[in-house]
Amino acid sequence: MKYGIISGNPKRAGLCHAMTEAVFQGARAGGADPEIMTVEKLDRCHVCGDGWGICREKHYCTFGADGFDLARETINAAEQLCFITPVYWGEMAEALKSFFDRLRRCDFGQEGVLGGKQILLVASAGGTGNGLLTCLEQMDRFCRHTGAVIFDYIGINRWNRDYKQCAIYAAAKSMAEGRKAGETVV
Ligand SMILES: Cc1cc2nc3c(=O)[nH]c(=O)nc-3n(C[C@H](O)[C@H](O)[C@H](O)COP(=O)(O)O)c2cc1C
Repeated sequence: MKYGIISGNPKRAGLCHAMTEAVFQGARAGGADPEIMTVEKLDRCHVCGDGWGICREKHYCTFGADGFDLARETINAAEQLCFITPVYWGEMAEALKSFFDRLRRCDFGQEGVLGGKQILLVASAGGTGNGLLTCLEQMDRFCRHTGAVIFDYIGINRWNRDYKQCAIYAAAKSMAEGRKAGETVV
């Protein structure tokens, strides 16, 4: 079973990177085949036409050859996913937001690649921890627009790193093991 980890983190070290690794290890321990995908090379939405663009009717992005089509296909192939991002300005990282802007438009009016899929949301904040909730709320709204099913919301900062890292590992593992709402998997 494919477990997609979609990361907005531009860094290859640090807190958010360590949490991404915890998701990866947890999903693997639960029997899934995890894959990490970053989206920082993708362009932003061009907001074509009168604002709705061709994507509203045709369900594809005219500029998808920049890697967007491939990223969408990776999400389509995954049965479960984690969205993970550093908190920037109380929001998700710009690259992830840009990708989600395009994906939401393409999937508008149809089930799409996220419909009915379980998603783990992880936001990693810095020293202040300000903006953790608004960041998670922003990801929550995207999931509601695309029909994704939120498995859990996990906010992390330098004060709670030790126990939240365990929670992230456990969440990814129990998702991969097939936990349904209300169940406990030993
Ligand atoms: C442009 C920018 C904006 C940031 N905004 C916030 C913020 O609003 N709240 C916060 O707690 N941390 C903020 N941070 C800190 C990051 O969330 C933090 O670097 C990251 O999540 C965790 O650390 P890492 O960089 O070691 O992965 C910001 C960092 C950058 C670069």
